[in-house]
Amino acid sequence: MLREASNGIRFVAAGEGPAVLLIHGFPLDHTLWLDQIRDLHGEALVVAVDLRGFGASPRMGEDTLDMERHASDCDLVLDELGVDRAHVVGLSMGGYVTLALADLFGHRVASMVLMDTKAGPDGDDAKAGRDAMAERLVTEGRSAVAASLMGGLLGPEPSVAARARFLTMAEALPYESYVGALMGMKQRPDRTAVLADFEGPVTVVSGEDDGLMSVADVAEPLAATARDGELVVIPGAGHLPPIERPAATGDAIRRHLARI
Ligand code: MLT
Repeated sequence: MLREASNGIRFVAAGEGPAVLLIHGFPLDHTLWLDQIRDLHGEALVVAVDLRGFGASPRMGEDTLDMERHASDCDLVLDELGVDRAHVVGLSMGGYVTLALADLFGHRVASMVLMDTKAGPDGDDAKAGRDAMAERLVTEGRSAVAASLMGGLLGPEPSVAARARFLTMAEALPYESYVGALMGMKQRPDRTAVLADFEGPVTVVSGEDDGLMSVADVAEPLAATARDGELVVIPGAGHLPPIERPAATGDAIRRHLARI
């Protein structure tokens, strides 16, 4: 059941134990994590947010959904739950938010799982790609963009269930949130130093077949940047292991918690 924080952010909180905050990517929502919530709530307090503008959380009425705003929203959710420190799990854009949390609200972050994400900023080509996607959204429509995104994000031979879950999330996202998120990701700063300075354990999780952020080019260097970094590769998954390989993703988070 979704709860609501005083900033309007909707979230699921289930279970007891160490707090694990799950932050979804783009263009997704907290339902990305449904299997992991079910899997882990017997051993942890699992909190899964809908970031502002996503899922059931309200939009801002502004043009940019930036990572810093998402981080401060997550900080308030944790505060209202009485959670001082959480193990933060972020997938892709959720990883950008995780690093923004560590940067701006470092006292909250006990450890991190960075899943199919990166610490560096967008290069010029990526920035131009954000503008092109925003333009395509408002001209060709959300379904066309969601369908082509799905091809790039899911690994080879995705199950019908994974495709259905992706489209359910991607086709429910309001146009203005799509565009706001693209603009927010485009302007995010380089947080490589935040990761390098972070003192807690970091597990980098990557789908073996992530075509957007590959194991060799992105995940391995990310794990090497962390002081106490470990890499877990999930076979048979692309960019979205929580819906492509739900059980292996739950196991990776459990393995991370066992390191604490
Ligand atoms: C995501 O999966 O959250 C996004 O694709 C990340 C990005 O576009 O940088």
